[in-house]
Amino acid sequence: MVQQRDDGQSRDAAAWTRLKPGQTVTLRAESPLHKGAYECSVIESSPERLRITMPMVDGRLVLVPVGTPVHVEGEAEGGTIALQARVIDRQGGSSRSLLLGPLPEPPAYLARRPTGAPSRTIAVTSGKGGVGKTAFVVNLGVALCELGKRVCVVDGDLGTANVDVILNLTPRFNLAHVIAGEKTIFEVLVEGPGGLVVLPGGSGLQELTDLGDRQFAKLRTQFQQLERYTDILLLDTGSGLSRSVTNFLRAAHETIVITTPEPHAITDAYALLKVISRHEDDLTMRLVVNRTASREEAHDIGQKMLFASQRFLGVDMTFLGYIPEDPAVGQAIRRQADLLSTYPKSRAAESIRRIAGTLLQEGEPNPEPAGGREGRRSFVQRIRAVLGR
Ligand SMILES: Nc1ncnc2c1ncn2[C@@H]1O[C@H](COP(=O)(O)OP(=O)(O)OP(=O)(O)O)[C@@H](O)[C@H]1O
Ligand SMILES: [Mg+2]
Repeated sequence: MVQQRDDGQSRDAAAWTRLKPGQTVTLRAESPLHKGAYECSVIESSPERLRITMPMVDGRLVLVPVGTPVHVEGEAEGGTIALQARVIDRQGGSSRSLLLGPLPEPPAYLARRPTGAPSRTIAVTSGKGGVGKTAFVVNLGVALCELGKRVCVVDGDLGTANVDVILNLTPRFNLAHVIAGEKTIFEVLVEGPGGLVVLPGGSGLQELTDLGDRQFAKLRTQFQQLERYTDILLLDTGSGLSRSVTNFLRAAHETIVITTPEPHAITDAYALLKVISRHEDDLTMRLVVNRTASREEAHDIGQKMLFASQRFLGVDMTFLGYIPEDPAVGQAIRRQADLLSTYPKSRAAESIRRIAGTLLQEGEPNPEPAGGREGRRSFVQRIRAVLGR
Protein backbone atom coordinates (compact mmCIF):
# COMPACT_ATOMS: atom_id res chain seq x y z
CA MET A 1 0.00 0.00 0.00
CA VAL A 2 1.15 3.48 -0.70
CA GLN A 3 2.13 5.43 2.35
CA GLN A 4 -0.29 8.18 3.15
CA ARG A 5 1.63 11.36 3.14
CA ASP A 6 0.73 14.97 3.20
CA ASP A 7 -0.32 16.00 -0.28
CA GLY A 8 0.73 19.62 0.16
CA GLN A 9 2.87 19.50 -2.97
CA SER A 10 -0.03 18.09 -4.98
CA ARG A 11 -2.11 21.16 -4.18
CA ASP A 12 0.70 23.37 -5.38
CA ALA A 13 -0.07 23.65 -9.10
CA ALA A 14 3.48 24.75 -9.88
CA ALA A 15 4.94 21.55 -8.43
CA TRP A 16 3.41 19.55 -11.29
CA THR A 17 5.24 21.57 -13.94
CA ARG A 18 8.59 21.03 -12.25
CA LEU A 19 8.46 17.48 -13.59
CA LYS A 20 9.75 17.81 -17.15
CA PRO A 21 8.95 15.88 -20.34
CA GLY A 22 11.34 12.99 -20.87
CA GLN A 23 12.26 12.54 -17.23
CA THR A 24 11.61 9.36 -15.28
CA VAL A 25 9.12 9.23 -12.44
CA THR A 26 8.11 6.42 -10.10
CA LEU A 27 4.43 5.57 -10.04
CA ARG A 28 2.75 3.63 -7.26
CA ALA A 29 -0.97 2.87 -7.36
CA GLU A 30 -3.13 2.76 -4.25
CA SER A 31 -4.70 -0.48 -5.31
CA PRO A 32 -4.16 -4.03 -4.13
CA LEU A 33 -4.27 -5.13 -7.78
CA HIS A 34 -1.22 -3.04 -8.68
CA LYS A 35 1.22 -3.30 -5.86
CA GLY A 36 4.48 -2.50 -7.56
CA ALA A 37 6.41 0.66 -8.22
CA TYR A 38 6.59 1.42 -11.94
CA GLU A 39 9.09 3.53 -13.80
CA CYS A 40 7.33 5.81 -16.26
CA SER A 41 8.36 8.70 -18.41
CA VAL A 42 6.80 12.14 -18.32
CA ILE A 43 5.21 13.06 -21.69
CA GLU A 44 3.93 16.48 -20.73
CA SER A 45 3.21 18.45 -17.58
CA SER A 46 1.05 21.45 -16.83
CA PRO A 47 -0.47 22.83 -13.62
CA GLU A 48 -2.29 19.91 -11.96
CA ARG A 49 -1.95 17.68 -15.01
CA LEU A 50 0.71 15.13 -15.80
CA ARG A 51 0.75 12.82 -18.81
CA ILE A 52 3.05 9.85 -18.40
CA THR A 53 3.82 6.71 -20.36
CA MET A 54 1.73 3.67 -19.53
CA PRO A 55 3.42 1.56 -16.84
CA MET A 56 4.86 -1.73 -18.09
CA VAL A 57 6.10 -4.88 -16.41
CA ASP A 58 8.06 -7.49 -18.39
CA GLY A 59 6.93 -5.93 -21.64
CA ARG A 60 3.28 -5.97 -20.60
CA LEU A 61 1.10 -2.95 -20.04
CA VAL A 62 -0.21 -2.41 -16.53
CA LEU A 63 -3.77 -1.18 -16.85
CA VAL A 64 -4.34 1.12 -13.91
CA PRO A 65 -8.05 2.02 -13.94
CA VAL A 66 -9.34 5.57 -14.21
CA GLY A 67 -10.05 6.90 -10.73
CA THR A 68 -7.23 5.01 -9.02
CA PRO A 69 -5.28 7.21 -6.61
CA VAL A 70 -1.58 7.10 -7.38
CA HIS A 71 1.60 8.45 -5.94
CA VAL A 72 4.18 9.96 -8.29
CA GLU A 73 7.69 10.79 -7.35
CA GLY A 74 10.44 12.34 -9.43
CA GLU A 75 13.57 14.38 -9.01
CA ALA A 76 13.40 18.03 -9.98
CA GLU A 77 15.55 21.03 -9.56
CA GLY A 78 15.43 21.93 -5.92
CA GLY A 79 14.53 18.46 -4.63
CA THR A 80 12.13 15.54 -4.91
CA ILE A 81 8.60 16.17 -6.10
CA ALA A 82 6.02 13.84 -4.54
CA LEU A 83 2.47 14.11 -5.79
CA GLN A 84 -0.73 12.47 -4.67
CA ALA A 85 -2.79 12.19 -7.81
CA ARG A 86 -5.33 10.02 -9.53
CA VAL A 87 -5.72 8.61 -12.99
CA ILE A 88 -8.19 10.79 -14.83
CA ASP A 89 -7.80 9.34 -18.31
CA ARG A 90 -6.15 6.35 -19.94
CA GLN A 91 -5.31 6.38 -23.62
CA GLY A 92 -4.70 3.25 -25.63
CA GLY A 93 -3.30 2.77 -29.11
CA SER A 94 -0.02 4.17 -30.33
CA SER A 95 -0.22 7.25 -28.10
CA ARG A 96 -0.95 5.23 -25.01
CA SER A 97 -0.50 7.13 -21.81
CA LEU A 98 -1.98 7.90 -18.42
CA LEU A 99 -3.27 11.36 -17.63
CA LEU A 100 -2.99 12.23 -13.94
CA GLY A 101 -4.76 15.00 -12.05
CA PRO A 102 -5.13 15.97 -8.41
CA LEU A 103 -7.16 13.91 -5.94
CA PRO A 104 -10.71 15.19 -5.43
CA GLU A 105 -10.85 18.01 -2.93
CA PRO A 106 -12.52 17.10 0.34
CA PRO A 107 -15.37 19.38 1.37
CA ALA A 108 -14.21 22.54 3.12
CA TYR A 109 -15.68 21.47 6.48
CA LEU A 110 -13.43 18.44 6.75
CA ALA A 111 -10.21 18.93 8.69
CA ARG A 112 -7.28 16.71 7.94
CA ARG A 113 -5.88 14.36 10.56
CA PRO A 114 -2.19 14.22 11.23
CA THR A 115 -2.10 10.48 10.63
CA GLY A 116 -3.31 8.22 7.88
CA ALA A 117 -4.05 5.37 10.30
CA PRO A 118 -7.54 3.85 10.05
CA SER A 119 -10.26 5.50 12.10
CA ARG A 120 -11.55 3.91 15.28
CA THR A 121 -14.75 2.23 14.16
CA ILE A 122 -17.61 1.82 16.60
CA ALA A 123 -20.79 0.03 15.59
CA VAL A 124 -24.02 0.73 17.45
CA THR A 125 -26.62 -1.99 17.38
CA SER A 126 -29.53 -3.57 19.23
CA GLY A 127 -31.44 -6.81 19.23
CA LYS A 128 -34.83 -5.16 19.04
CA GLY A 129 -35.70 -2.21 16.83
CA GLY A 130 -36.83 1.15 18.10
CA VAL A 131 -34.70 1.24 21.27
CA GLY A 132 -33.05 4.55 20.35
CA LYS A 133 -29.98 3.61 18.28
CA THR A 134 -30.21 6.34 15.69
CA ALA A 135 -30.90 9.09 18.21
CA PHE A 136 -27.99 7.80 20.29
CA VAL A 137 -25.56 7.54 17.37
CA VAL A 138 -26.29 11.06 16.17
CA ASN A 139 -26.01 12.63 19.62
CA LEU A 140 -22.99 10.60 20.63
CA GLY A 141 -21.39 11.81 17.39
CA VAL A 142 -22.10 15.44 18.28
CA ALA A 143 -20.81 14.87 21.84
CA LEU A 144 -17.56 13.39 20.51
CA CYS A 145 -17.21 16.39 18.18
CA GLU A 146 -17.60 18.68 21.19
CA LEU A 147 -14.66 16.82 22.70
CA GLY A 148 -12.56 17.67 19.67
CA LYS A 149 -12.89 14.47 17.67
CA ARG A 150 -13.63 14.34 13.97
CA VAL A 151 -16.57 12.00 13.67
CA CYS A 152 -18.36 10.51 10.71
CA VAL A 153 -21.69 8.78 11.26
CA VAL A 154 -22.26 6.04 8.75
CA ASP A 155 -25.96 5.47 8.28
CA GLY A 156 -25.97 1.75 7.84
CA ASP A 157 -29.57 1.03 8.63
CA LEU A 158 -30.62 -0.81 5.52
CA GLY A 159 -34.33 -0.78 6.11
CA THR A 160 -35.05 2.77 7.13
CA ALA A 161 -32.04 4.97 6.72
CA ASN A 162 -33.04 7.83 8.96
CA VAL A 163 -30.01 9.67 10.25
CA ASP A 164 -30.76 12.26 7.57
CA VAL A 165 -34.38 12.55 8.65
CA ILE A 166 -33.46 13.03 12.31
CA LEU A 167 -31.02 15.79 11.34
CA ASN A 168 -33.07 17.35 8.55
CA LEU A 169 -30.39 16.65 5.97
CA THR A 170 -31.17 15.93 2.36
CA PRO A 171 -28.42 13.79 0.92
CA ARG A 172 -28.64 13.45 -2.84
CA PHE A 173 -26.32 10.50 -3.06
CA ASN A 174 -25.24 7.55 -0.96
CA LEU A 175 -22.65 4.84 -0.76
CA ALA A 176 -24.28 2.96 -3.64
CA HIS A 177 -23.19 5.82 -5.95
CA VAL A 178 -19.64 5.45 -4.69
CA ILE A 179 -19.67 1.72 -5.33
CA ALA A 180 -21.06 2.29 -8.82
CA GLY A 181 -18.14 4.65 -9.44
CA GLU A 182 -20.47 7.59 -10.10
CA LYS A 183 -19.39 9.66 -7.11
CA THR A 184 -16.39 10.00 -4.86
CA ILE A 185 -16.92 9.53 -1.15
CA PHE A 186 -16.45 13.27 -0.62
CA GLU A 187 -19.33 14.02 -2.97
CA VAL A 188 -21.64 11.80 -0.96
CA LEU A 189 -20.89 13.15 2.53
CA VAL A 190 -23.19 15.68 4.13
CA GLU A 191 -22.42 18.10 6.90
CA GLY A 192 -24.37 17.64 10.12
CA PRO A 193 -24.57 19.76 13.28
CA GLY A 194 -21.57 20.61 15.43
CA GLY A 195 -18.99 19.47 12.89
CA LEU A 196 -20.49 16.00 12.54
CA VAL A 197 -20.12 14.41 9.12
CA VAL A 198 -22.71 11.96 7.81
CA LEU A 199 -22.13 9.27 5.23
CA PRO A 200 -25.50 8.14 3.88
CA GLY A 201 -25.31 4.39 3.44
CA GLY A 202 -28.45 3.61 1.52
CA SER A 203 -28.42 0.33 -0.32
CA GLY A 204 -24.64 0.67 -0.68
CA LEU A 205 -23.97 -1.00 2.63
CA GLN A 206 -25.96 -4.05 1.67
CA GLU A 207 -23.97 -4.32 -1.55
CA LEU A 208 -20.77 -4.20 0.47
CA THR A 209 -21.09 -7.84 1.34
CA ASP A 210 -21.05 -9.06 -2.24
CA LEU A 211 -18.70 -6.89 -4.20
CA GLY A 212 -16.16 -8.14 -6.69
CA ASP A 213 -12.44 -7.61 -6.06
CA ARG A 214 -12.16 -4.62 -8.31
CA GLN A 215 -15.14 -2.80 -6.85
CA PHE A 216 -13.97 -3.62 -3.37
CA ALA A 217 -10.53 -2.23 -4.06
CA LYS A 218 -12.10 0.99 -5.31
CA LEU A 219 -14.27 1.29 -2.25
CA ARG A 220 -11.37 0.63 0.05
CA THR A 221 -9.49 3.47 -1.54
CA GLN A 222 -12.48 5.74 -1.08
CA PHE A 223 -12.73 4.85 2.61
CA GLN A 224 -9.02 5.48 3.01
CA GLN A 225 -9.63 8.98 1.71
CA LEU A 226 -12.42 9.51 4.22
CA GLU A 227 -10.38 8.11 7.09
CA ARG A 228 -7.72 10.76 6.52
CA TYR A 229 -10.28 13.20 7.84
CA THR A 230 -12.04 11.27 10.60
CA ASP A 231 -10.90 10.02 13.99
CA ILE A 232 -14.00 7.95 14.63
CA LEU A 233 -16.48 6.22 12.37
CA LEU A 234 -19.79 5.61 14.13
CA LEU A 235 -21.92 3.03 12.44
CA ASP A 236 -25.69 2.85 12.91
CA THR A 237 -26.23 -0.77 11.94
CA GLY A 238 -29.94 -1.17 12.25
CA SER A 239 -31.23 -3.92 14.50
CA GLY A 240 -31.63 -7.64 14.39
CA LEU A 241 -29.78 -10.65 13.27
CA SER A 242 -29.44 -10.25 9.53
CA ARG A 243 -26.16 -11.42 8.09
CA SER A 244 -25.12 -7.95 7.03
CA VAL A 245 -25.62 -6.54 10.53
CA THR A 246 -23.53 -9.25 12.14
CA ASN A 247 -20.83 -8.86 9.49
CA PHE A 248 -20.60 -5.16 10.27
CA LEU A 249 -20.30 -5.88 13.96
CA ARG A 250 -17.50 -8.34 13.34
CA ALA A 251 -15.68 -5.84 11.15
CA ALA A 252 -15.97 -2.89 13.55
CA HIS A 253 -13.34 -2.49 16.23
CA GLU A 254 -15.94 -2.06 18.95
CA THR A 255 -19.65 -2.57 19.34
CA ILE A 256 -22.09 -0.73 21.55
CA VAL A 257 -25.24 -2.74 22.21
CA ILE A 258 -28.25 -0.70 23.23
CA THR A 259 -31.22 -2.00 25.10
CA THR A 260 -34.10 -0.52 27.01
CA PRO A 261 -35.32 -1.99 30.31
CA GLU A 262 -38.14 -3.70 28.41
CA PRO A 263 -37.89 -7.52 28.73
CA HIS A 264 -38.25 -8.00 24.96
CA ALA A 265 -35.38 -5.65 24.22
CA ILE A 266 -33.20 -7.48 26.74
CA THR A 267 -33.91 -10.97 25.40
CA ASP A 268 -33.34 -9.78 21.82
CA ALA A 269 -30.02 -8.25 22.89
CA TYR A 270 -28.96 -11.65 24.28
CA ALA A 271 -29.96 -13.35 21.04
CA LEU A 272 -27.76 -10.92 19.15
CA LEU A 273 -24.80 -11.44 21.50
CA LYS A 274 -25.18 -15.16 21.12
CA VAL A 275 -24.94 -15.03 17.34
CA ILE A 276 -21.95 -12.70 17.33
CA SER A 277 -20.10 -14.69 19.97
CA ARG A 278 -20.30 -17.78 17.78
CA HIS A 279 -18.13 -16.09 15.16
CA GLU A 280 -15.67 -14.00 17.10
CA ASP A 281 -14.29 -14.09 20.56
CA ASP A 282 -12.17 -10.98 20.68
CA LEU A 283 -14.79 -8.34 20.04
CA THR A 284 -15.07 -5.40 22.38
CA MET A 285 -18.69 -5.18 23.47
CA ARG A 286 -20.15 -2.36 25.52
CA LEU A 287 -23.65 -1.99 26.89
CA VAL A 288 -25.81 1.12 27.05
CA VAL A 289 -29.19 1.00 28.77
CA ASN A 290 -31.53 3.61 27.29
CA ARG A 291 -34.79 5.07 28.60
CA THR A 292 -34.25 4.08 32.20
CA ALA A 293 -36.37 5.31 35.11
CA SER A 294 -33.37 5.67 37.41
CA ARG A 295 -29.66 5.12 37.76
CA GLU A 296 -30.37 2.12 39.99
CA GLU A 297 -32.55 0.47 37.38
CA ALA A 298 -29.83 0.98 34.74
CA HIS A 299 -27.11 -0.52 36.92
CA ASP A 300 -29.30 -3.41 37.96
CA ILE A 301 -30.02 -4.32 34.32
CA GLY A 302 -26.38 -3.78 33.40
CA GLN A 303 -25.12 -6.04 36.14
CA LYS A 304 -27.51 -8.83 35.26
CA MET A 305 -26.71 -8.65 31.55
CA LEU A 306 -22.96 -8.58 32.02
CA PHE A 307 -23.15 -11.53 34.36
CA ALA A 308 -25.41 -13.62 32.13
CA SER A 309 -23.50 -12.90 28.94
CA GLN A 310 -20.23 -13.81 30.59
CA ARG A 311 -21.62 -16.92 32.24
CA PHE A 312 -23.73 -18.34 29.42
CA LEU A 313 -22.20 -16.90 26.27
CA GLY A 314 -18.61 -16.33 27.30
CA VAL A 315 -18.91 -12.71 26.16
CA ASP A 316 -17.00 -10.12 28.17
CA MET A 317 -19.10 -7.02 27.97
CA THR A 318 -18.57 -3.79 29.86
CA PHE A 319 -21.17 -1.30 31.04
CA LEU A 320 -20.67 1.97 29.19
CA GLY A 321 -23.51 3.97 30.67
CA TYR A 322 -27.22 4.72 30.63
CA ILE A 323 -29.57 7.38 29.33
CA PRO A 324 -32.70 8.28 31.29
CA GLU A 325 -36.15 8.41 29.78
CA ASP A 326 -36.32 12.06 28.77
CA PRO A 327 -38.97 13.84 26.68
CA ALA A 328 -36.22 16.13 25.31
CA VAL A 329 -35.01 13.25 23.08
CA GLY A 330 -38.33 13.03 21.25
CA GLN A 331 -38.71 16.81 21.16
CA ALA A 332 -35.33 17.22 19.48
CA ILE A 333 -36.25 14.53 16.95
CA ARG A 334 -39.51 16.31 16.16
CA ARG A 335 -37.54 19.51 15.59
CA GLN A 336 -35.17 17.51 13.39
CA ALA A 337 -32.20 18.76 15.36
CA ASP A 338 -29.58 17.16 17.56
CA LEU A 339 -30.33 16.96 21.28
CA LEU A 340 -27.03 18.40 22.45
CA SER A 341 -27.45 21.81 20.89
CA THR A 342 -31.25 21.94 21.18
CA TYR A 343 -31.55 20.84 24.81
CA PRO A 344 -27.96 21.02 26.03
CA LYS A 345 -28.93 20.89 29.70
CA SER A 346 -31.35 17.99 29.42
CA ARG A 347 -30.59 14.89 31.48
CA ALA A 348 -30.32 12.76 28.34
CA ALA A 349 -27.80 15.17 26.80
CA GLU A 350 -25.72 15.09 29.96
CA SER A 351 -25.72 11.28 30.00
CA ILE A 352 -24.67 11.12 26.37
CA ARG A 353 -21.81 13.54 27.06
CA ARG A 354 -20.73 11.35 29.95
CA ILE A 355 -20.77 8.28 27.69
CA ALA A 356 -18.69 10.11 25.06
CA GLY A 357 -16.16 11.05 27.74
CA THR A 358 -15.94 7.46 28.97
CA LEU A 359 -15.45 6.15 25.44
CA LEU A 360 -12.51 8.47 24.90
CA GLN A 361 -11.10 7.86 28.34
CA GLU A 362 -11.20 4.10 28.00
CA GLY A 363 -9.69 4.48 24.55
CA GLU A 364 -9.76 1.92 21.86
CA PRO A 365 -9.14 -1.67 22.64
CA ASN A 366 -5.80 -2.94 21.45
CA PRO A 367 -5.05 0.08 19.25
CA GLU A 368 -1.65 -1.17 18.23
CA PRO A 369 -1.68 -4.66 16.78
CA ALA A 370 1.31 -6.01 14.89
CA GLY A 371 2.56 -3.31 12.60
CA GLY A 372 1.62 -0.52 15.01
CA ARG A 373 -1.24 1.86 14.61
CA GLU A 374 -0.56 2.32 10.93
CA GLY A 375 -0.79 -1.45 10.52
CA ARG A 376 -4.31 -1.60 11.92
CA ARG A 377 -6.84 -2.60 9.33
CA SER A 378 -9.68 -0.34 8.41
CA PHE A 379 -13.34 -1.24 8.70
CA VAL A 380 -13.62 -1.97 4.99
CA GLN A 381 -10.56 -4.21 4.97
CA ARG A 382 -11.95 -6.10 7.94
CA ILE A 383 -15.26 -6.64 6.19
CA ARG A 384 -13.28 -8.35 3.48
CA ALA A 385 -11.62 -10.56 6.04
CA VAL A 386 -14.93 -11.37 7.73
CA LEU A 387 -16.31 -12.46 4.38
CA GLY A 388 -13.30 -14.72 3.97
CA ARG A 389 -12.18 -13.13 0.69
N1 LIG B 1 -33.74 8.39 26.21
C1 LIG B 1 -34.92 8.52 25.57
N2 LIG B 1 -35.97 9.10 26.18
C2 LIG B 1 -37.16 9.21 25.53
N3 LIG B 1 -37.37 8.79 24.29
C3 LIG B 1 -36.38 8.20 23.62
C4 LIG B 1 -35.09 8.03 24.23
N4 LIG B 1 -34.29 7.43 23.33
C5 LIG B 1 -35.03 7.24 22.22
N5 LIG B 1 -36.29 7.68 22.39
C6 LIG B 1 -37.39 7.62 21.39
O1 LIG B 1 -37.41 6.35 20.81
C7 LIG B 1 -37.84 6.44 19.46
C8 LIG B 1 -36.99 5.55 18.60
O2 LIG B 1 -35.68 6.07 18.52
P1 LIG B 1 -34.69 5.70 17.32
O3 LIG B 1 -35.32 5.97 16.02
O4 LIG B 1 -33.42 6.34 17.62
O5 LIG B 1 -34.61 4.13 17.54
P2 LIG B 1 -33.84 3.07 16.64
O6 LIG B 1 -33.33 2.03 17.56
O7 LIG B 1 -32.88 3.72 15.75
O8 LIG B 1 -35.02 2.47 15.78
P3 LIG B 1 -34.90 1.51 14.48
O9 LIG B 1 -34.58 0.15 15.01
O10 LIG B 1 -36.24 1.60 13.86
O11 LIG B 1 -33.82 2.08 13.63
C9 LIG B 1 -37.76 7.90 19.08
O12 LIG B 1 -39.06 8.39 18.86
C10 LIG B 1 -37.16 8.59 20.26
O13 LIG B 1 -37.80 9.80 20.54
MG1 LIG C 1 -32.63 3.69 13.62
